[in-house]
Amino acid sequence: MVAAADSRVTVITGGGSGMGRATAIRLARKGDSVCVCDIDENGLKATAEIIQSEGKPVTTGIVDVRDQKRVKNWCDEIIRKFGKIDCLFSNAGVAARSTVADMTLAQWSSVIETHVTGTFNFCQAILRHMVARKSGAIVITSSDFAVVGVPNAANYCAAKTALYSLTKSLALEFAPHGIRVNAIGPGPIDTPLLRSGRTRAEYEDARRAFESRLPMKRLGQPEEVASVVDFLLSDRASYITGQLVHPNGGQVMW
Ligand SMILES: NC(=O)c1ccc[n+]([C@@H]2O[C@H](COP(=O)([O-])OP(=O)(O)OC[C@H]3O[C@@H](n4cnc5c(N)ncnc54)[C@H](O)[C@@H]3O)[C@@H](O)[C@H]2O)c1
Repeated sequence: MVAAADSRVTVITGGGSGMGRATAIRLARKGDSVCVCDIDENGLKATAEIIQSEGKPVTTGIVDVRDQKRVKNWCDEIIRKFGKIDCLFSNAGVAARSTVADMTLAQWSSVIETHVTGTFNFCQAILRHMVARKSGAIVITSSDFAVVGVPNAANYCAAKTALYSLTKSLALEFAPHGIRVNAIGPGPIDTPLLRSGRTRAEYEDARRAFESRLPMKRLGQPEEVASVVDFLLSDRASYITGQLVHPNGGQVMW
């Protein structure tokens, strides 16, 4: 399937699952040429098959967001193919739950590098190009955990706070170039990440705890996050930059 000549070109990281997949599907349906990357080849293939089955175009890349050279090369490939990148959804993420006392350096580093360095790598590769075109929109997946502390998740919370901070600095640096940068702070969303590092019983306990604590008494669905990303990347959000927007069922209010 060939993309329409004037279609918006949107890059999505972590598109092989969860919110990245839901966003890729939503934006492809709306006419974007979506370029989706992940380290999970099977997940990426499954996302691509859903989009292609609806007759929409999709470009895929096996890209580890931590690998700066690979990120730059893949973004350059996209620019060669389409002549531009309009939007970035920097979303790839991992969790590695542990108390700080027992946390290995690998657990610390994998989370910080995937979220923070991965987002830096993609923003740098794409912003240079957006500046030349004097337009662009970026959404970064932070979390409710950017603004609260959580036991067994110090690495994850630190990464998500860093992403919120990075969002604000990028918004200030690039507003003069016509580029908007916002973050989303989802609450607990029903994706594989919420289950990772938990046994089935631990996940059920965590889910019940989330549901009883949440004002809306249920987990969010990836599609409910995708609709917010869609809005923030669109011209409907033309006066919004540097903000952390929470699709979170009311979990955190501040
Ligand atoms: N699920 C939640 O409750 C929740 C809440 C707030 C924020 N988030 C954040 O949302 C984002 C998406 O998570 P999700 O819940 O959809 O989880 P998910 O596990 O369904 O999707 C994450 C994707 O990122 C990919 N990924 C991981 N490391 C990568 C790397 N180094 N390079 C490229 N791809 C990589 C994974 O393979 C996976 O496909 C993450 O940043 C996560 O931290 C999730």
